[in-house]
Amino acid sequence: MLENDIPQVVAIEEKLYFRPWSNQSFIYAQKNYICTLFISHDEIAGYAILDKVDGQSQLLNFSIALEYQNQGIGTTALRILLKNYYKDLQIDIIYLEVNVSNGVAIKLYKKAGFKAMGRRLGYYQTSEGKQDAITMYHSKNQLIA
Ligand SMILES: CC(C)(COP(=O)(O)OP(=O)(O)OC[C@H]1O[C@@H](n2cnc3c(N)ncnc32)[C@H](O)[C@@H]1OP(=O)(O)O)[C@@H](O)C(=O)NCCC(=O)NCCS
Repeated sequence: MLENDIPQVVAIEEKLYFRPWSNQSFIYAQKNYICTLFISHDEIAGYAILDKVDGQSQLLNFSIALEYQNQGIGTTALRILLKNYYKDLQIDIIYLEVNVSNGVAIKLYKKAGFKAMGRRLGYYQTSEGKQDAITMYHSKNQLIA
């Protein structure tokens, strides 16, 4: 992800989330985190942002643009992403948080080998009030071929 890509990423983000990341958040992310774009037909179809600290990491954002959803892109992108993270970065484990009501994402993460490990009460502010997050982890030996 280059700084030039950020306006387009923000436009995608704003269609997906009740509390979207701001332009400033993506500028910070682009400088400090590992940011990956998923490109389809020369367009940004999605993106992922990973924060890596020593051997651990946190998948902070994984998003597929509305018009590209439900076409298998998330499944494929996540599989390739995990493989490349473990190959290219010195990491042993990846954590993430996902809204308990986000059944599509939970299914996607479980299919990729993520395991649930806990719950954060009232972690997300949504249009329907506060909702819990499920915390999940993925370690290198859970990589699905
Ligand atoms: C969650 C998300 C990344 C999934 O990406 P995607 O490209 O749509 O996922 P896929 O097309 O690979 O589908 C994955 C599975 O979910 C199912 N699915 C996808 N969209 C669906 C929908 N709208 N309704 C029901 N099922 C759906 C697919 O059928 C597929 O099921 P299968 O594994 O049994 O075949 C995407 O929906 C998204 O970006 N959502 C908004 C942002 C978000 O919630 N990110 C995760 C934050 S933790």
